[in-house]
Amino acid sequence: MQERPARENWASHAGFILAAAGSAIGLGNLWKFPYMAYKNEGGSFVLIYLASVALIGLPVMMAEIVIGRRSQRSPVGAFLTLGGKAWSSVGVLGIAVGFIILSYYSVVAGWTVQYLGRCLGWSLGGFTPEDATNLGESFGAFLRNGPSQILFHGIFMGLTIGVVAFGVKGGIERVAKILMPLLFVILFALCLNSMRTPGFGEAIRYLFTPGPISKGGILEALGQSFFSLSLGMGAMITYGSYMRRESSIPRASVMVCLLDTLIAVMASVIMLAIIFGQQDRSQFGASATILFTTLPRMFYEMPGGTVLSPLFYLLVALAALTSTISLLEVVVSFFIDQLNWNRVKASIAVGLAIFSFGILSALSFGAVKSLSTFAPLKDTPEDAGFFGQLDYLATNWLLPIGGLLIAVFVGWFLPNRTTRDELATAKGPMAGYGAWKFVLRFVCPIGISWIIYEVIRGAKFN
Ligand code: TRP
Repeated sequence: MQERPARENWASHAGFILAAAGSAIGLGNLWKFPYMAYKNEGGSFVLIYLASVALIGLPVMMAEIVIGRRSQRSPVGAFLTLGGKAWSSVGVLGIAVGFIILSYYSVVAGWTVQYLGRCLGWSLGGFTPEDATNLGESFGAFLRNGPSQILFHGIFMGLTIGVVAFGVKGGIERVAKILMPLLFVILFALCLNSMRTPGFGEAIRYLFTPGPISKGGILEALGQSFFSLSLGMGAMITYGSYMRRESSIPRASVMVCLLDTLIAVMASVIMLAIIFGQQDRSQFGASATILFTTLPRMFYEMPGGTVLSPLFYLLVALAALTSTISLLEVVVSFFIDQLNWNRVKASIAVGLAIFSFGILSALSFGAVKSLSTFAPLKDTPEDAGFFGQLDYLATNWLLPIGGLLIAVFVGWFLPNRTTRDELATAKGPMAGYGAWKFVLRFVCPIGISWIIYEVIRGAKFN
């Protein structure tokens, strides 16, 4: 047996926060949250989402990081060392979920690359009024084009494999360090710009005035908080395993949750302000595609927009990249840690397998009819198709189940000694430790079981 090499660490304190925020901030914030807030009629959805981030997301994130840093392993090895054989199945579940999510996430990430190209074209060649009114239709045509869908999905998987193959410090941290601050600045600027548009006031009202909400909307907000914070499948276990001993887990977790939420809210304000500013909303409010069909409209109307738009889609693509990296890293680190593969080989082999499986999702936007209407689990229009079904399965079933098991494991099975020690800071024990433990033991399991119960009863996330 060969000696276990010392685990690679983030290069700096900020390294973990940047990388974890990079994982959390992605299409979940920029693409999914705004359209979900819109679809669920704003106010109550946003409030429940915020409550769910604070009450369930934050404690579970701390729990995942504790598992990772304590064990110094990726999920399967982590549960194996800390909990034994039976618990390691939670790690295996996480790896399967990472595989599934990445396979379809990369397809949407590919759209951002295509949009980057399109916006560059608009910058150079001009954005005509016809372009501006046909955004919905031209995007639809792109979705139905099978070869394009596979091509851009492939480009994105290639980029992801490239970064993961270079390893944690060389790849992930460097990308996140430049990117996260820049994305933040641009979103902030776009938010300021939207303040002077006619739809701004209504967007704010829509997002922050509580109104009626369906049961399905409540459940959707909970599932989305897991997805957006990268919880429930071991991404934070893996990143936590690279975290330095001296870094504070509670501090880092609070930072990541705050940044993630702030970005989701800013993105929603920007997009809803555009939608509410239009006379004819039908072209712009089209649910799941507003990142691609609504935003270009704003760039068209705002001064300097055609110059800004390629930069914006570049940043969205890069934000998606720091998220796909974390998904691939979870699967790849299993092969490295448990099966002793080398990093480059594991990245390429796993990445190719995920790419291949993702082709089914890429073709489910109209290119192949049987894939596009595939709906054994749920058949509302927006969840139909292979892509929608996988997203439904992962976000609404698998992540909450994973989160529940993680909460139970850390709340009930890890000794107090261990968790107290991991959560302590240089100044002493963590403030509010008892509250954290209580939430993990009772609030999370009961809250999440309730989601699962409602789903089984047929309430479904619609
Ligand atoms: N959180 C990312 C986003 O919002 C997506 C993501 C990355 C993710 N890693 C994950 C979701 C792990 C669930 C689990 O875009």
